[in-house]
Amino acid sequence: MPDSGVSKILINENEIATIVGRLGREITETYRESGGELIVVGLLRGSFVFMADLIRKIHYPLVVDFMAVSSYGDGTVSSGDVKIVMDLDESVEGKHVLLVEDIIDTGTTFKKVIRMMGNRNPQTLKTCTFLNKPSRRKHDVPIDFCGKDIPDEFVCGYGLDYAQKYRNLPYVGVLGE
Ligand code: IMP
Ligand code: MG
Repeated sequence: MPDSGVSKILINENEIATIVGRLGREITETYRESGGELIVVGLLRGSFVFMADLIRKIHYPLVVDFMAVSSYGDGTVSSGDVKIVMDLDESVEGKHVLLVEDIIDTGTTFKKVIRMMGNRNPQTLKTCTFLNKPSRRKHDVPIDFCGKDIPDEFVCGYGLDYAQKYRNLPYVGVLGE
């Protein structure tokens, strides 16, 4: 049974584990071949649950850092206005950067962050998202590691919120009656 406020479970805990395991293997393979320092950068707040699971499936030495950007108010529609709320502690210069996002929707947020990160001279810059809504894309963004494409529905749980709530759900659900 879904929790109250959730009409349907879109991705259950088992499927999440399968997705994260596969991404971990893909990422491990990629960096094992290239060598060098890896910094995994999570975009707060949505990515923190996914990040926690993902890094434990990456079998390559890494450093974790976070950046907070906000593009949404408390609603479900992007304002298109992306603000840096909290910057990284670590320098990314000369390192392999893996940017981790919870979901890519219009691409507005990720596009801005990718451009900013690229200006800081990393050795390489790759991207990973847990969820992807391709039908909503307004800006082309490169995704190197993609968990799952989903239809145009507003989802929450597993770190994703609606008005800051529902992040603690262990599955990804669709809101509704
Ligand atoms: P974009 O800039 O339109 O790609 O929006 C990206 C951000 O919007 C993500 O990092 C999420 O925080 C949020 N977002 C987009 N779609 C959803 C959703 O279905 N549920 C929860 N948050 C979402
Ligand atoms: Mg987000």
